Amino acid sequence: ANEEVTKKEQKQMTTVAHRGASGYAPENTMAAFEKSVDMKAEMLELDVQMSKDGELVVIHDTSVDRTTNGTGAVKDMTYEELLQLDAGSYFNEAFAGEKIPTLGEVLDEYRGKIGILIEIKSPSLYPGIEQKIADELVDRNMHKPNNNKIIVQSFDHDSVMTFHSLLPSIPVGVLVGYSPNGISNVQLAAFSSYADYVNPNLSMIDSDLVQRIHNQGMETYPWTVRDELSADFLLNVGVDGIITDYPDYVDPHLPDQ
Ligand code: G3P
Ligand code: CA
Repeated sequence: ANEEVTKKEQKQMTTVAHRGASGYAPENTMAAFEKSVDMKAEMLELDVQMSKDGELVVIHDTSVDRTTNGTGAVKDMTYEELLQLDAGSYFNEAFAGEKIPTLGEVLDEYRGKIGILIEIKSPSLYPGIEQKIADELVDRNMHKPNNNKIIVQSFDHDSVMTFHSLLPSIPVGVLVGYSPNGISNVQLAAFSSYADYVNPNLSMIDSDLVQRIHNQGMETYPWTVRDELSADFLLNVGVDGIITDYPDYVDPHLPDQ
């Protein structure tokens, strides 16, 4: 057996660092994105929301309470106010002083270095956010085919459709939370009319679902991997990528044969 060949390489699977390498650094900060590159993930994932004065900011929750030293809703704070917050100490004092990045800062810093999976978070709170994201990409000429993979996704499928109609050259994905009913072929056919990716909670995944997604011409990047067993399971059922807090877990070597 060639010990250099890994399952990941064999299946050409994409590793996506969830909120950056958020198992190792405060989520959605430059420190976490830098670790994604260090760990050789193919993409980083981030969550985009909007400040009171219309700046696109990278943060997961609709309030700043959990991940910063401040309190309040993102949509009620100006960018200047958000910039004052410490977004690192909640994770570890070693990261004190990390800031809430803007989408533009992340695009400028990481274009050409790593792919970027942009999640539009809670878009119903932020009318017009799809156009603003499209503008950030077009302003940087990042909407044309180049060496920098960009995907836009959301749990809000209307928002995904809106973004797709604004900027059809950027691939889009639908996020799907856990549902005991699974995902039907009728739903998949509807997704396939605009989406390139169906990204479900990993508890939804089995080889049948992966096959049905592929049959409709789409790919799948399930979330969120936090252990090696899940990474290995997903690899074995043939997913196209995994969204993980630990991008360095997902390179299990093939057993010797
Ligand atoms: O990218 C998928 C994943 O990020 C969706 O869940 O809550 O971590 O944004 P959440
Ligand atoms: Ca996310």
